[in-house]
Amino acid sequence: MLGDGLFETLRAHGGKPEFLKLHFARLLRSARRLRIRVPVDEAALRKIIATLCRKNKALDVAVRITLTRGRYFGGLSIDPAVPPTLIITATPVSELPPKILTQGVKVAISSINKAAASGLDPRVKSINYLANIFAKAEGDARDCYEAILLGARGEIAELSTSSFFGVFLENGHAVAVTPSIDTGILPGITRQVLLRELKRAKLPYREGEIFPADIPRMTEAFLCSSVRGPVPITRIEKQKVGTGKPGPVFAKLKDLYVKACAQEIAA
Ligand SMILES: Cc1ncc(COP(=O)(O)O)c(C=O)c1O
Repeated sequence: MLGDGLFETLRAHGGKPEFLKLHFARLLRSARRLRIRVPVDEAALRKIIATLCRKNKALDVAVRITLTRGRYFGGLSIDPAVPPTLIITATPVSELPPKILTQGVKVAISSINKAAASGLDPRVKSINYLANIFAKAEGDARDCYEAILLGARGEIAELSTSSFFGVFLENGHAVAVTPSIDTGILPGITRQVLLRELKRAKLPYREGEIFPADIPRMTEAFLCSSVRGPVPITRIEKQKVGTGKPGPVFAKLKDLYVKACAQEIAA
């Protein structure tokens, strides 16, 4: 009723969720901050997802786990006696159109500053997505796939439903840079997995600040989310990113990500 809840979206294949451990840890952190009791543990959640997919004969799905404060009896006081409501849904997803991966996408820079617009703790994946909805509306109006939200100092924070990475040539190395959590972003699970893969592969990366003024120096950019994985960005507003084509850092990370997902499913 009042945006008083949280959610997680993750992908599952054949009833097996990808990176459930990481999603469940974020769900617990969000719930702790919102003071909502979590009525299931990770193992129970894994079973529910398997059953949901089996009963719906769903092979490749986006699973949404929504946890709210429960039935609304009026007023704003938190009543610990009211049980939380847990809703889990599975929606079929298909692979991204190949054109998106081979040509990349164009994104907009929205006028929305997430922190100022929502007043919410950005680390909580709250069910209030109004700031993101209006950022996306700005992107849609300019025929863009997604829209960037800026942080308090005008730095690139994240996109309406994804995390951001830019690639910069530093001392002769292509360094993958992603805004740090302090920028006021949602700690994306895909971002976390990509950082882990970069570390394991000993590829240069850092968390830091990226400003729109840095776009001309970017050799590549990409966004990422649990349902889509990494997606190359080849245009930001009217500016071409790098050569205007998806680059080698994206290709390497996409490959590492696909392998990491396959390991999750095989486990
Ligand atoms: C605002 C925002 N940032 C980042 C992400 C990516 O997060 P994840 O990788 O956990 O899906 C999402 C996903 O919905 C999002 O809504």
